[in-house]
Amino acid sequence: MAQYNFDEILERENTDAFKLELRKFFFGTDEVLPLWVADMDFKAPPAVINAIKERAQHEIYGYTIRDSKFTGAIQNWLSSQHQWNIEESWVKFIPGVLASLVIAINEFSEEEDRVIIQTPVYPPFHSIVKENNRELVQNRLIETDGYYTIDFELLEKQASNPKAKLFVFSNPHNPVGRAWNEEELKKIADICIKHDLLIVSDEIHSDLCLFDHKHIVLANLCPELKDRIITGMAPSKTFNIAGLSTAYAVIEDNKLRTRFDKRLSAYQMYMGNLFGGVALTAAYNEGAEWLSELKTYLEGNALLVKEFINKNMPEVGFVLPEATYLLWLDFRKWNIPHADLKKAMIEIGKVGLNDGLSFGVEGDGFQRLNIGSPKAVIQEGMERILKVRNHFIK
Ligand SMILES: Cc1ncc(COP(=O)(O)O)c(C=O)c1O
Repeated sequence: MAQYNFDEILERENTDAFKLELRKFFFGTDEVLPLWVADMDFKAPPAVINAIKERAQHEIYGYTIRDSKFTGAIQNWLSSQHQWNIEESWVKFIPGVLASLVIAINEFSEEEDRVIIQTPVYPPFHSIVKENNRELVQNRLIETDGYYTIDFELLEKQASNPKAKLFVFSNPHNPVGRAWNEEELKKIADICIKHDLLIVSDEIHSDLCLFDHKHIVLANLCPELKDRIITGMAPSKTFNIAGLSTAYAVIEDNKLRTRFDKRLSAYQMYMGNLFGGVALTAAYNEGAEWLSELKTYLEGNALLVKEFINKNMPEVGFVLPEATYLLWLDFRKWNIPHADLKKAMIEIGKVGLNDGLSFGVEGDGFQRLNIGSPKAVIQEGMERILKVRNHFIK
């Protein structure tokens, strides 16, 4: 019997929600149904809410530490959810998973060195590399009927350039929804070792594998990567607590970790948010059941989208995601210029999706849909997309 009500529609107006308040800036209007930014329209687990309320009642919110309650919760979580047994000392608090990328780029590469990402991919992967004056190398994923795989031949070639220093990995992948398999991960490891690349493995979506897919932690599968891998993780996507700015890097190798730590302190990023620590600990200690129900609900939403597409717009390309609540929809068969697609979603559909091109040129003709909302909202979003289709296809 379901314990949690993900169908409940909650008001998010006037809560300073990025997803709502920045619609005007990104879409030019507040009128779009917000199905973009990767947070969910669900309450956090009751254990998290209660822990925050209880701590808030103390009414002193001074500087805070994260001790073995925090790291112990992480150790138990990684062990029970991902069969990854880590030591307490490997864990470094960071204010967001992206901070691990910023730190790694600056600590482990020089200006004009090359950083490889796999496109289409989460837009900050592009911008962080460029804004830190590194050369962006795009290892394009191969798309076959909506299913994405890695071009290892190209990756090998790109990695072999002596200027290539870092490989930034999204596992599971945002936006294509792949939970990379053992064979793929081992090939990645081989290439990175052969060409001496450091790996930033962004595993922020690791808890959100769907439809019986299983997340494999790269550092756990390939211990030979020990001295060249930084794994970034967080409870933020999993438990819908991204606003609490609490994440962590797991780094086994002492030398690598010491350098990472030094940079963390040079950037003054180590302090963190009191409530974030409280929330992480409660979520990891008591949130497993909630997560299990959430994943069932998200699977239902993904199936709703699939059925809606099959019935009403079968030409729209879509495969069920292996992980994440982000769906990568392919509108290329509508045969309209991308700019018109984007504009029509906003103006005709009044639906706020993430524009495909923001993930790289491979996103031409695509839009990303966030299904982390009550079913009725997702249904409404699909009706709005159908309206756009009916505008173009008579
Ligand atoms: C792949 C990926 N990495 C990182 C982030 C953001 O992480 P953080 O807010 O912890 O920096 C996101 C958010 O959508 C993401 O999808």
